[in-house]
Amino acid sequence: MAEASPTVRGVEIGDRARYDTFMDVVVNRITTRAFRVDYSVPREHFELIIEAARHSPSGANAQPWHYIVVTDPEVKRQISDYFVAEQGRRARLGMKFPTPNYHGIATAPGVIVVATDFRFVRAFPVLRHEDPDSPVNRPYYENAERILLQSVAAATMSAHLAAAALGYNVWWVTAIGQQDAQEAIKPLLDVPEEISIIDIMCFGPPAKPIYKRWKKELSQIMSWDRFDRSQHLTDEQVEDWIKTQRHRVMYRSEENVD
Ligand SMILES: Cc1cc2nc3c(=O)[nH]c(=O)nc-3n(C[C@H](O)[C@H](O)[C@H](O)COP(=O)(O)O)c2cc1C
Repeated sequence: MAEASPTVRGVEIGDRARYDTFMDVVVNRITTRAFRVDYSVPREHFELIIEAARHSPSGANAQPWHYIVVTDPEVKRQISDYFVAEQGRRARLGMKFPTPNYHGIATAPGVIVVATDFRFVRAFPVLRHEDPDSPVNRPYYENAERILLQSVAAATMSAHLAAAALGYNVWWVTAIGQQDAQEAIKPLLDVPEEISIIDIMCFGPPAKPIYKRWKKELSQIMSWDRFDRSQHLTDEQVEDWIKTQRHRVMYRSEENVD
């Protein structure tokens, strides 16, 4: 019999030591938005990180992702400039979102741009030969788009965990979907027209002491058999959370945006 592949070998169900090792990585995957500028990420680490993404699940196993490692400091600076400008645009729009300091992208030791190919939406359950906007097809296309985005997010999460496993802090930057962002950033990386940039992953050793952010308790996010209605928020409670809590949980405090 052929030797078992190392990635699909049998594992003892309930192996707590293995789970604990995994959770050490999960719990210590912590966002930072300012990295040490004197550190250089070895090429091998980029490959180890993307290797984790490569093994991720995806709808129809379409693997609709591409990861562009950015090493050119000038390109990093131009990407960072876009986000800093976007921060200004949002402020002028009165968005009141506690936007972080995006200057850190320019000097992040690790920068990986995450791209996807929306044409693969058609690989998921849709009526491919009918108008995507027809009343019957629209819900399928909307769901297919979610399948695509979930697929890329799953792979990106694996990459973030791999970076955390290597000891890095990470930064998931999604402020990028808009057409403006596509037009500003794609040419810097020679990204083909059909491909969209979804987010940016930055990582490196932190420049400042890191801190663990608030996480909900298990009982707040988990139900058995029926949705636990005691955890269900009214519209007013959601609005109040956004107004009074969001800035506290994204950062240490509203005054101390990192
Ligand atoms: C889908 C997603 C989008 C995010 N987008 C941004 C972003 O655009 N800018 C940013 O500074 N942080 C972004 N973050 C990072 C979150 O703010 C951070 O994960 C959250 O505050 C929890 O902190 P933690 O990662 O340390 O647990 C994003 C995270 C995720 C998963």
